[in-house]
Formats: sequence, structure tokens, C-alpha cells
Amino acid sequence: MDDIVVIGAGQAGATLVATLRRDGFAGKITLIGEEPVLPYERPPLSKAYLLGEMARERLYLRPAAFYADNDVEVITGLRVDTIDRGGKVVIAGDRQFPYDKLALCTGSVPRRLPEAIGGALPGVFTVRTLADVDAMAPLMRPDARALVVGGGYIGLEAAAVASKIGMRVTLVEMADRILSRVAAPETSDYFRALHRRHGVDIREGTGLQELTGEDRVTGAVLSHGETLAADVVIVGIGISPATALAEASEIVVENGIRTDAQGRTSDPDIWAAGDCASLPYRGRRIRLESVQNAIDQAECVARNMLGAGQDYVPYPWFWSDQYDCKLQIAGLSAGHDRIVTREGPEGSGQTAFWYYRGDTLLAVDAMNDARSYMVGKRLLEAGRSPDPAAVADPDTDLKALLKG
Ligand code: NAI
Repeated sequence: MDDIVVIGAGQAGATLVATLRRDGFAGKITLIGEEPVLPYERPPLSKAYLLGEMARERLYLRPAAFYADNDVEVITGLRVDTIDRGGKVVIAGDRQFPYDKLALCTGSVPRRLPEAIGGALPGVFTVRTLADVDAMAPLMRPDARALVVGGGYIGLEAAAVASKIGMRVTLVEMADRILSRVAAPETSDYFRALHRRHGVDIREGTGLQELTGEDRVTGAVLSHGETLAADVVIVGIGISPATALAEASEIVVENGIRTDAQGRTSDPDIWAAGDCASLPYRGRRIRLESVQNAIDQAECVARNMLGAGQDYVPYPWFWSDQYDCKLQIAGLSAGHDRIVTREGPEGSGQTAFWYYRGDTLLAVDAMNDARSYMVGKRLLEAGRSPDPAAVADPDTDLKALLKG
């Protein structure tokens, strides 16, 4: 095998090429990315970078010299059009890249509000790329009015930044509670109260009828008919896996690019990792939208491309920073039927433990409670479940549960 091509230069693509070299692949490696910049970290985009507290150079995952030193050709600003799977060639405009093995790390695309309701008006932003945040930053000014659409991670982190800047912030969440996709009701309660203390007007069970304005956005009509003025609209309504290229190339897609447990797609020479990949997990299929999965899965897939033959076993964890609160989530809560909450040390934090069939631990959501998070994560990794009553009892020494 001589040539490996990786499409997508985000966290997964960058990790995959670095792992190939580290693990001894001596052939040609080409990393192709659509954005005009070297691979960078996305998590700070909705946090320190949006706040203006992080220099752009610090976002880059590795300096340009890393790729040169490791003989990885990085091609930025190039969109791949098609994969000629029969001829084993990637085609981008008038350029062609032959491959022996190919990895798809195409990530995901943010959902946008329809153009028909004003989603394409200037002043309306998604928060996915460096270019998105660079375009939005000049509008993030004290006293300006921000409307945040969507109460997931992006919306809440952006609302926290806007509030810190001194903007007047309203957040609308269509579902009956913020963070409903990822967190327990108790966690939503905690973050609702936190944001309200910082002056963010959170409206749950509220969608958007339309955004208004002539040549830029100036306001919104909410689902209940109320009107609001807005200088900037930040849209965080979820993402879709970037599967267009795979579909056009007739690679099987099933809510993401379908892979086997090792990361191989329906074409045995083509692999997938990161947000775009749909992988088998406990008898069903999942996609994991997280940086840590992009890293772990890409490392595993790189090794498998070199013949390791290892199944990827995800141990998902997620985090979010909002104001002075760190939310840490370990595990996946889908299928839960019981939630037990525990107060953190000195009453400042709180953790939700999610159970399945009443006593099998699935996940933990910890707010400013690093100890519960650490213990919960280690228990999950060990496949162990602490007694829910012991977890809820503030007198239980959590660390003792690890020994038990
Ligand atoms: P999300 O799926 O977490 O949240 C989207 C929210 O928007 C949901 O609560 C949904 O009910 C709501 N929504 C959908 N349509 C709406 C509408 N028309 N009006 C009002 N509300 C609406 O997705 P989000 O926050 O956009 O994040 C995008 C991706 O980035 C996710 O994969 C997320 O995991 C990732 N991310 C992760 C972070 C972290 O781990 N800390 C931080 C930021 C983003």
C-alpha cells in the first residue's frame, strides 16, 4: 500500500494522518480540507475565541512544520467533488488524487434556518467554523441585542459569551427544556437557573416564526407571535453528518456513513471516522458528536487501515464551559429509566447519575463536581454500577465506591 488520502481536515482527519505516521506508515499521505486553514480546534470557537480571549494561532492543532516534518501533504481550501471508487481516485476540480486506502473524515454541517423565514439574512450566524466566528465577532458588542436560536451546547455557550460581553440576550429553545438532547432534566434546571442569574432571557417551548429585516436582520417573530428586536442572531439548532460525498459515491449511509466496528465503510478500501461516521454500539447504531470521539475513533481507524483489526469501543465524554460552570458528561444516557442526583461538595455543584433497568449505570452529568465525574467515568469504564441509594446519599464516600 502506497497512498492514503484523507478527506476532511478537522479533528478526526488531522488525528488520523498523525497516527498513520506515528504507527509507521511510510507511504504517501494526503490530507484534503475544504476550509482555507490548517486543522484547528473547534471547542474554543463558542467559548474563549468568541469572547476574544484566545489568539487564532492557538487554535491550530499542530503547526505547519509538523505536516512538513512528517511528510504529510495538507491541501486546504479544496472541495472534493467525487470519488471514482472503481479507479480509486479522488477528484477535486481538475485535480486527481489516486489512493490505495481512503478515509472520510468529513464531519458535519450545521443545520440552518430556512431562507424563507430569514435564515440567510446578514447578521444571522451559525457557529461551526473559524470563518463563522470571525464574521460574527465585530457584532458582539456591549448593549447589542443577541437572539440565540437553540438551547443546546452551541446556543448556551454562545449565550454565556454574549452575556459576559454585556449584550442583551434572549435564547429560544423549541423543545420543552434546554439541553434535552444530551442532559438530564436536573441538568437543564441547573443551567436554566445559571443563565437566568446572568440575565439571559431563556424561553423554552418557543420556536421561531421568522426573522425580520430588509438588508440585514433586525428582529424576530417568535412562535407565540411575540416580536423582538435583534442585532445579531446566533443559530445553534444541531448538526447533520456530512454525507453528501459518500452518498454521491454510493457508499452506504445510515444517519451518517455506515461503518463496521473497525471503521470500514461499505467499500472495504474506504474508512470513516468522527462526526460523519455511524458505528455499531450495543446492538444499535450511533453517531458521536464529540471531539474526544473524533480523536479516539480516528486513532483506531488509522491503526485498522494499517491492519490492526481492532474494534473501536467508545467511552464517550463531553464537556461544556458556561460562566464559571464546567459541565462534564461521561457515558451515553439513551435507554435510561432512572436518574439519581447528588449534591456536589459544599452544595456548589450537582451530578446526575443515569441508570438503566433501575441499577445499571449508563452515564453521569456533573456540574462543577469533578469528583463525581471522575468516579462515575471510572465506574463506567470498568462496567460497574454503584447502588443508586448509595450514590444519592451525601454521606457516601464516592471514592469508596471505586474500591467496592
Ligand atoms: P444540539 O443538538 O446540541 O442542540 C440544538 C438545540 O436546538 C436542541 O435543543 C433543539 O431542540 C433546538 N432547536 C432545533 N431547532 C430549533 C428551532 N427551530 N428553534 C429553536 N430551537 C431549536 O446542537 P448544537 O448546540 O447546535 O451543537 C452542534 C454540535 O456541536 C453538536 O454536535 C454539539 O455536540 C457540538 N458542540 C459540542 C460542544 C461541547 O461538547 N461542549 C460545544 C458546542 C458544540
